[in-house]
Amino acid sequence: MLKLKNRGILNVFKISPQLRPFSSISQNFVKIVDVSPRDGLQNESTIVPTSVKLELIDRLTKANIPSIEITSFVSPKWVPQMADAKDILRFVSSKYEGNGTSYPILIPNTKGLERALETGIAIKEIAIFGAASEGFSKKNTNTSVNEGIRILKEVADLAHSNGIKVRGYLSTVIGCPYDGPTDPKKVADLSQRYLEEIGCYELSLGDTIGVGTVKTTEKMLMEVFKKVAPSKIAIHAHDTYGQGVANVLKAVEMGVRVVDASVGGLGGCPYAQGATGNVSTEDIVYSLHNSGYQTGIDLDFLSKTGEWISTTIGRSNGSRAGKAIASKL
Ligand code: HMG
Ligand code: MG
Repeated sequence: MLKLKNRGILNVFKISPQLRPFSSISQNFVKIVDVSPRDGLQNESTIVPTSVKLELIDRLTKANIPSIEITSFVSPKWVPQMADAKDILRFVSSKYEGNGTSYPILIPNTKGLERALETGIAIKEIAIFGAASEGFSKKNTNTSVNEGIRILKEVADLAHSNGIKVRGYLSTVIGCPYDGPTDPKKVADLSQRYLEEIGCYELSLGDTIGVGTVKTTEKMLMEVFKKVAPSKIAIHAHDTYGQGVANVLKAVEMGVRVVDASVGGLGGCPYAQGATGNVSTEDIVYSLHNSGYQTGIDLDFLSKTGEWISTTIGRSNGSRAGKAIASKL
C-alpha cells in the first residue's frame, strides 16, 4: 500500500504523481467531497487557528481527496469560526493551483460571493445552500425557502457570469429540528428547482440533523429520482443517530456517485441544535473500498489525518474505521 509522508504545509507541491489525476473514473468510482474544513470546523466552540485549517486542507489533499470544501463566506457575525475565509482562499489558490483537486467555498448570498471575488482569485467552484423546511431556513439564513431560492439564483447568476461552477445544498431533506419530518415530494420539487431554475450542476441532499434511516433515505431518494437523475445528486449525511454509513450506502446502491463526508466525523451546524458531525470520511471510504467501489483515496493517510485533527483540536475521533486503521499503522 502506498504510504505518504507528511511533509508539512510548506511543501504542498510534492504530491505523489501516482495519486492523481482521478484517471479510472468508472461506474464503481464514488467521488468523495470532504467538507471538514468548513462543515467540520464551523461548529467548534473554540475557533480553530487558520494554520491548523491550512494543515488540515494540506493533509486531505495529500490523502487524494478529489474535492475539499475549504471555507465559507457567510457572515462572521453569524459564524465567527469562518471569519478567515479570505486567508484560506488565498493560501489554497496560490499553493494548489492546477493539482486536479477541487476546492469549493460555501456562499450564502451575493455579498458572500462579492467578498470572495474581491480577493481577485479566479474561483472555480462555489457551493450555495438552502433548506427544504421553513424553520431551518429562517434560523440558518434568516429567510423563507422561496425567498432563499431567489437569493441563491442571484448568486448563481453572478457566479456563472464569472465562469464559476455552482454546486447546491438542500438541507433538512429528512427532518427539521424545528418543523419535524420533511415531505419527500417537497424535496423532489425543490431539487428540480435547484438544478433547473437556479442552475446548480449538482445538488447535495443534506440530512442536516442525521435523523434518516435506510428506509427514509430510500423513500426520499425514490421521490427525487422521479424528477431528477441520480447523476445530478450527492448525499450529505450527518451521523447523529449512527445511521450515516448505512444511509450513504443505500444512496450509492440507488445510483448516487458523489458523497460528502468529514474526516474524523467532525462538525455540525450551529443552527441545527443537537446535530453532530458529518458521517466520517474514513468510515465511508472503508465501507466503499470493501463493497467493490473505488475512491482513489489513501485510507491509511486519511486515518492518520483524522487522528491528527482530533488530537489537535482536543476532541475524540468520531471515526470508528479511522481509529482502528490508525492504531495499526
Ligand atoms: P442577515 O442578518 O439576514 O443578513 O443574515 P443581512 O443581509 O440583513 O446583513 C446583515 C449584516 O451582515 C450586514 O452587515 C451585512 O453586510 C452582513 P452590517 O450592515 O450589519 O455591518 N452580511 C455579510 N457579511 C459577510 N459575509 C456575508 C454577509 N451577508 C450579510 N456573506 C446571512 C443573512 C445569510 C448573511 C446569515 O444568515 C448567515 O451568514 N448565515 C449562515 C449560517 C451558516 O453558515 N450556517 C452553516 C452553514 S449551512 C450548513 O451547515 C448545512 C450544510 O452543511 C448542508 C446540511 O448539512 O444540510 C451546507
Ligand atoms: Mg452539513
